[in-house]
Amino acid sequence: MKNIKTTPEAHIQHQLISEIEVGLLNITPYISPKFLYDPLGSHLFTAITLLPEYYPTVTEKHIFSEFENEIAHHVGLGGTLIDLGAGNCEKAKSLFPSIQPSCYVALDFSKEYLEDSIKKLQAEYPSIQMTPIGMDFSKKLSIPDSVPSNRTFFYPGSSLGNFLHDEAINLLRQIKSQVRGGGLLMGIDLMKSDEALINAYDDALKVTAAFNLNILRSVNTMIGSNFNIEQFRHLVKVNHAVNRVELYLETLEELTVSWPGHERTFQKGELIHTENSHKYTINSIQKLLEQSGFSSSTIWTDPKQYFAVIYAK
Ligand code: TRP
Repeated sequence: MKNIKTTPEAHIQHQLISEIEVGLLNITPYISPKFLYDPLGSHLFTAITLLPEYYPTVTEKHIFSEFENEIAHHVGLGGTLIDLGAGNCEKAKSLFPSIQPSCYVALDFSKEYLEDSIKKLQAEYPSIQMTPIGMDFSKKLSIPDSVPSNRTFFYPGSSLGNFLHDEAINLLRQIKSQVRGGGLLMGIDLMKSDEALINAYDDALKVTAAFNLNILRSVNTMIGSNFNIEQFRHLVKVNHAVNRVELYLETLEELTVSWPGHERTFQKGELIHTENSHKYTINSIQKLLEQSGFSSSTIWTDPKQYFAVIYAK
């Protein structure tokens, strides 16, 4: 008889496995981008943010430091900072001196990596109450009632761009309904030339290629599949019809991948979709916020208008 697991962890694990299987067996195969962020993937992403080609991180940082006081004025002091997709917590940390939160709640899909980051941060800021939560909020965001009000949801890095239009509205509405007197402080990537976009998502050192290809290792670990990374290459497309950068893994030859209970054959040149990164305009993001129930927003940007930081209430 099979070992029947009933713990909540086993249940979540089971759901993640079926989610991967559904994507791999789909006519147009895909893998959810959340599987990019296993421990190695999280480190590779940190490396991406240090690349000169990956303008979002540096530009956002520049905007936050340039408008530090104005932003703090809008957010207010001493509230709760809720970090959506905290990772190494570096971005939130840079806000601590200006907005002085009394409470910091960090959410991330990758719990181990997050707990590590929080341990280090808590030692540096002993007076801020810190809580790490391992959560996949891509479908449902639910902040425990015990988290104090006057909540500022912090959503940097243009992660909202990784959602489809309806999913983005769904997440923004859920945020709006849980701010309890606070607001949303968010970074959004703006539309720009294909050249700048392609450089940012296909860097010369090939760190982004490694990051994208690593999803296959992550999937192998999760479902016991036998993806061979050498049979794939990283591919970037700019899709102007829907204003987004699309990330794929392209097969270099015909191949068959198998895992317990299933297999799939891929033709040469077939694409596995791994991520969408939507690019907004100031108008389109304001419209999206309005549609999601936010009644006011303030926007800061850089001289090239590559990126925007928004505070919405
Ligand atoms: N989601 C982020 C973005 O859209 C992270 C990212 C950067 C990414 N490069 C990537 C995701 C390559 C997948 C593949 O900018």
